[in-house]
Amino acid sequence: MKREKVSPKTRTVAAAGENASPRIRPTTKIPAAAAIGILLAFGVVAIFVADAIWPVPPVQSADASAVASTSGSPAESPQAAAWKRMIDQHFAGDAACASCHPKQAAAQRRSGHSRTAVAMLESDFASELLAGQPYRDSRRSQTFEFTSHSNRFMVRDADDPDLPALPVTWLLGSGTHAQTPIFVDQQAQRGVEMRWSFLANRDGIGLTPEHEKFDQYEAKSLQCYGRPMDAGDVRSCLGCHTTVGPPAQLPIQNDLYVANVGCERCHGPRKQHALLAHQGRGEESKPLVQYASAEAYIDACAQCHRDESSVSPTAQPHELVRFQPYGLKRSRCYLESPDKLTCSTCHDPHDTVSHDRTVYIQQCQQCHQPGRDSLCTASPQGDCIDCHMPATEWTAGIAFHDHEIRIHEALAPKHSTPQVKP
Ligand code: HEC
Ligand code: HEC
Ligand code: HEC
Ligand code: HEC
Ligand code: HEC
Ligand code: HEC
Ligand code: HEC
Repeated sequence: MKREKVSPKTRTVAAAGENASPRIRPTTKIPAAAAIGILLAFGVVAIFVADAIWPVPPVQSADASAVASTSGSPAESPQAAAWKRMIDQHFAGDAACASCHPKQAAAQRRSGHSRTAVAMLESDFASELLAGQPYRDSRRSQTFEFTSHSNRFMVRDADDPDLPALPVTWLLGSGTHAQTPIFVDQQAQRGVEMRWSFLANRDGIGLTPEHEKFDQYEAKSLQCYGRPMDAGDVRSCLGCHTTVGPPAQLPIQNDLYVANVGCERCHGPRKQHALLAHQGRGEESKPLVQYASAEAYIDACAQCHRDESSVSPTAQPHELVRFQPYGLKRSRCYLESPDKLTCSTCHDPHDTVSHDRTVYIQQCQQCHQPGRDSLCTASPQGDCIDCHMPATEWTAGIAFHDHEIRIHEALAPKHSTPQVKP
């Protein structure tokens, strides 16, 4: 399957070999208009409540039909129009930054951030499904059939002719690991996370991660298609996969979102900066890299990458490996080197993750060197990551690196000592 692949060897740590401390800027003052925009823009990140909504009351067949026929755009309210004007006035879009910041723009295009929410019908995955066979879900004995109709991507259960076809709205995820489609019902303000996804480890369609728990389903309800979501769920899904979206007072409407995690998600609305910079006055509207401390930096990433505030008391250790800020903030490396360690120590936030271990090991050794922090007593020349940040399966076939840097008692003694390649 053809995906926009990038070289895994891409060197991402901008400051490799430099000091490991993060480049934290003082908090900058921003103009009032931009501040309003930012407040609007960043007040909308909802709390992730995925597990709270199952099971939902089933909808009747009539409801399912109603959904399929009326899920188009509702009439536009003055508030929605004002929101669109605000976006237009304050947000420039990634393309507007590229001419002056080519390095960050090129990195951003490699990163999953730049294509983590696309219109389903425009995706490669949709083209492949439309050209291929229906998908048989053997765990449920359903057969999902895909068509396009009036410029919409539709899915139906071929084994249940009474069930209407559902339009699929967004495809979330770049495909490094997976891409999961969702349906957004703009009328009823709810949605469905589809039961089928693109899975990189199968190079094709398969069961959406964690959907084994939804093998049982209510016939003639939205559950036939996947996991029903309430408005809060839909907002949080899109909130983490887009640059900006409508605040709570406005309805969930697809055209009120700026898709993908673009430059202005992290740097705030920058249209004014871009305009002034074109007149040689870029300095007057110095853009924000607004992190007063290492903690504030990590908090900004944790809005989506998740820290302790998103962790439920019943979470299992393997589930937590997906939450890099959670792990990092528990590490002694972070706790005992105040205001030094951020995500930028090891990653360029603009770029796709590098798999070049030598770069990471150099970062460990910036601190763990003779005369500074402690040295490894077990394998000082080995691959630190294998032993102290091991890849850990989150769900079958998808692993994340455990960002709680520590001594894994169970792992260590069994390991041979891999040598670092020059
Ligand atoms: C016409 C050229 C131009 C365009 C377009 C432009 N910038 Fe800039 N940008 C500049 C200049 C000039 C600076 C100041 C460089 C410096 O401080 O050394 C700057 C600085 C920055 C900085 C660093 C600020 C700091 O505190 O060091 C960020 C972040 C930034 N721009 C983001 C953006 C984003 C996001 C966009 C697109 C929405 C954008 N820029 C569009 C010219 C531009
Ligand atoms: C608006 C939510 C959001 C914020 C804020 C955010 N991220 Fe992400 N990040 C994502 C999503 C979603 C993905 C998955 C992208 C994909 O589909 O591949 C991701 C992926 C990544 C990746 C992997 C990219 C790749 O292609 O390998 C890195 C690294 C990363 N983020 C670092 C950061 C850092 C560092 C920060 C803070 C400076 C940050 N992110 C802030 C949502 C966010
Ligand atoms: C709290 C923020 C948050 C919420 C809510 C959220 N995501 Fe994500 N999502 C992320 C981040 C961060 C990543 C990248 C790291 C990871 O995979 O955990 C990601 C990764 C993904 C990926 C894998 C991308 C890849 O190829 O690596 C998919 C697919 C995805 N999300 C779909 C969804 C769907 C569907 C929903 C709603 C049901 C959702 N996400 C809700 C933050 C979020
Ligand atoms: C996921 C969050 C995130 C996104 C998206 C993002 N940036 Fe940044 N950017 C940062 C952070 C954090 C820094 C601070 C420096 C660092 O940690 O590397 C930064 C620094 C910068 C700088 C200052 C120079 C430097 O590299 O330190 C410029 C210029 C910049 N970004 C432009 C952009 C442009 C243009 C885009 C979109 C193409 C963009 N950024 C997208 C988080 C982000
Ligand atoms: C910013 C500096 C810094 C960086 C970068 C850093 N560490 Fe640390 N690390 C520390 C400090 C400080 C401690 C606690 C005091 C000590 O052991 O010297 C520590 C402790 C540790 C410990 C002992 C943990 C425990 O629970 O006893 C391990 C293992 C470790 N680091 C491994 C790593 C690895 C592997 C990397 C790279 C992936 C890394 N560190 C990067 C500063 C850092
Ligand atoms: C001490 C170094 C270090 C720091 C600090 C660090 N990471 Fe990582 N990160 C890694 C390593 C090593 C990998 C695995 C790279 C590979 O694939 O070989 C990784 C992988 C990732 C991935 C890809 C998914 C995975 O787990 O394999 C994401 C996303 C990510 N980091 C986000 C973050 C965020 C967000 C932060 C800040 C909270 C952060 N990282 C801080 C070292 C670090
Ligand atoms: C083969 C697995 C392995 C590799 C590779 C490895 N370590 Fe360790 N590391 C361990 C074990 C096991 C311990 C605990 C040793 C003990 O308790 O005596 C340890 C201990 C440490 C400590 C704590 C030392 C102290 O005095 O408490 C630090 C710091 C550390 N490692 C850093 C690193 C760094 C940095 C690298 C890469 C250059 C690395 N380790 C590579 C297994 C490994």
